Amino acid sequence: MMKKMPVIGYRITMSDLLSGLKGFFSSSSKDEFRGILSKFIKSRHVCFTNSGISAFYIALLALKKRSSRKEVILPAYTSPSLVVAVNKAGLKPVLCDISLEDFNMDADALLKMISSETLCVVCVHMFGMPARNIEQIKHNLPEDIFLLEDCAQAMGSKIGDRLAGSFGDLAVFSFNRGKNLPAYGGGGIFTSSGELASEIEDIVNELRAPGLIYEISLFLKFICLSIVFRPVFYSLLYPFISHFKEDKVPTDFSVEGYTSLQARLGTVLFKRFSESCMKRYENALTLIHGLRNTKGIILPEMQDNLIPAFNRLPIVFKNIELREKVEKEFIKNGIEVSRLYFKPLHHIFDLGYDKEEFPNAVYLAERLLTLPIHPMVDEGTLKKMLDLIRGMPE
Ligand SMILES: Cc1ncc(COP(=O)(O)O)c(C=O)c1O
Repeated sequence: MMKKMPVIGYRITMSDLLSGLKGFFSSSSKDEFRGILSKFIKSRHVCFTNSGISAFYIALLALKKRSSRKEVILPAYTSPSLVVAVNKAGLKPVLCDISLEDFNMDADALLKMISSETLCVVCVHMFGMPARNIEQIKHNLPEDIFLLEDCAQAMGSKIGDRLAGSFGDLAVFSFNRGKNLPAYGGGGIFTSSGELASEIEDIVNELRAPGLIYEISLFLKFICLSIVFRPVFYSLLYPFISHFKEDKVPTDFSVEGYTSLQARLGTVLFKRFSESCMKRYENALTLIHGLRNTKGIILPEMQDNLIPAFNRLPIVFKNIELREKVEKEFIKNGIEVSRLYFKPLHHIFDLGYDKEEFPNAVYLAERLLTLPIHPMVDEGTLKKMLDLIRGMPE
């Protein structure tokens, strides 16, 4: 049987599992995790919820309390769940095209779209690639328009010596299974504004706390995750796991409290976090340098001041048939790749736009493949990925 390399991964040890058990008994786990993250992102206030998307939703509710404006600007290619959250908050999603240089929102296009109805701009650091123009965006936004960073895929990514999540009025993070700190679910809302923090705390304090049964089931799933992240077990269990892969468009989500267990798992996994971010960066650089002269592909444009802790490495194939061939070849060779979201947001939801609008987002969605670069990816797999792509006829 061929070894399979999952597209996402993190090293979770037996000692992590044993240490995590403390989360069932300790009442200070959330405070401890909060302290670690607050110091790490350099954000004064951190609140937790049951998921990244509920964190995003609560951030919007807090902003809504502080303004009568209704429009939320989102990149046209990102997680569809963001549109669901904007609608659920009673606000209006407004889309902005992306740039094919860093696959994030096009800053020039964005700044032209700001209107008297704009409540906030959501800067998503897609794939872990930091939105390199975020300082320019922040600088040019009128003071009464909020900048909300979505760092669900980008925990640990840096611009200069500042981490993604430290630029906006607010930032949200996800600790879900496939994210950079996969503490089996949960989300964080970060802000240094005391006023926004107190709005958020008011909402979060009212959330229903999940019970012990839920925590036990989370822990069992976390044990499974620690097994599945290992390529040998992933290969053995793949026929079973593949049934659980979700690619349906979300229609709603639950908004609940966070558990002490998840906070404890977050604290335990954080010990290896910086090392894992560096490995993500180095693995991505190996692929980017190795593919620099390959024709027919677009790679995220690196700059000296960017240190992305990529969640996956995005590659755009100019020729769709070539993308399909590469995808098949990777699967044949036991390397899992993913197209992530198959369509841009205006092709998934009826948001009042024509299908031809946001051409870069449409282009990216049709031609994207994301490659594994997580800490479990070894040199042999990196070499195999390079050989497979370089060996493809143009
Ligand atoms: C950019 C982005 N934002 C938000 C989310 C939501 O995070 P969660 O899965 O924790 O709800 C995701 C999840 O994939 C995401 O990719």
